[in-house]
Amino acid sequence: MRNRKKKNGANRLINLSSLLIFSDNVSSLSESARFCDVSSLRLEIGCGKGDFITELARREPDFGYIAVERVPDVALIAVEKYAGSRNLGKLGDHGEWITPDGNVLKGEKMDIPPESAGNVRFFIGRAEDFLQAAPAGSFEGVYLNFSDPWPKKGYASRRLTHPSYLKQYASILNNNGKLHFKTDNDGLFEFSLDSLDSEGWKVEFMTKDLHSDQTYEKIRAENVMTEYERKFLQQGVPIKFLCATPPLD
Ligand SMILES: C[S@@+](CC[C@H](N)C(=O)[O-])C[C@H]1O[C@@H](n2cnc3c(N)ncnc32)[C@H](O)[C@@H]1O
Repeated sequence: MRNRKKKNGANRLINLSSLLIFSDNVSSLSESARFCDVSSLRLEIGCGKGDFITELARREPDFGYIAVERVPDVALIAVEKYAGSRNLGKLGDHGEWITPDGNVLKGEKMDIPPESAGNVRFFIGRAEDFLQAAPAGSFEGVYLNFSDPWPKKGYASRRLTHPSYLKQYASILNNNGKLHFKTDNDGLFEFSLDSLDSEGWKVEFMTKDLHSDQTYEKIRAENVMTEYERKFLQQGVPIKFLCATPPLD
């Protein structure tokens, strides 16, 4: 994702750092996330600018959500978008954060009590680092939306549906856990189906045209749109979608 360097990016992240999870705290996720009243956890990898996680968390507030994004300036947009959606303040013209009671923050951490922080936390870093540290069986859903396709053969191991990633998802998902995957990319979709098959996952549901397939009215109605999805839809590119469960132990 192309993104111009954000002015005051580091300070802006500090302002909202109560909404972040740091590497040292991933292994004790449920304590460090300080969620109030969530039944179980969901994970989005590569959240981009945060449209999906912000909207899903609003629609299904009983879950706690962790959004992972490796590019800090992209994650910053997602964090600020989410904070705005929770009425935690707004971004000023010069990169300052203006709290609901009018305080102006320029790199000072805003104290956000868990009941106001809501049900999303952000991890800024690589998926691989998060997955290695995340507690086994701790998630009921993993969401991959428009993951980078890495089309060159030599880069197949970087694809987020490569068998090495699927093994890690299988480990962090609980007994009812599911992987949800959407992409515009035919090659990545076929690769993902092959990977799932080779790793013994069960594809519960799939479509190669989520937005036109009349059979899947209900799934379409529940669909939460991402930034990339909106762009590809406008271009008339069919969106591929699947939902799969890991092999039983
Ligand atoms: C093509 S964008 C899609 C963004 C968003 N999910 C959407 O659908 O609009 C992929 C995003 O995943 C992030 N990403 C790719 N590989 C990642 C990894 N290994 N760990 C964390 N983030 C990753 C990229 O930085 C980028 O923001």
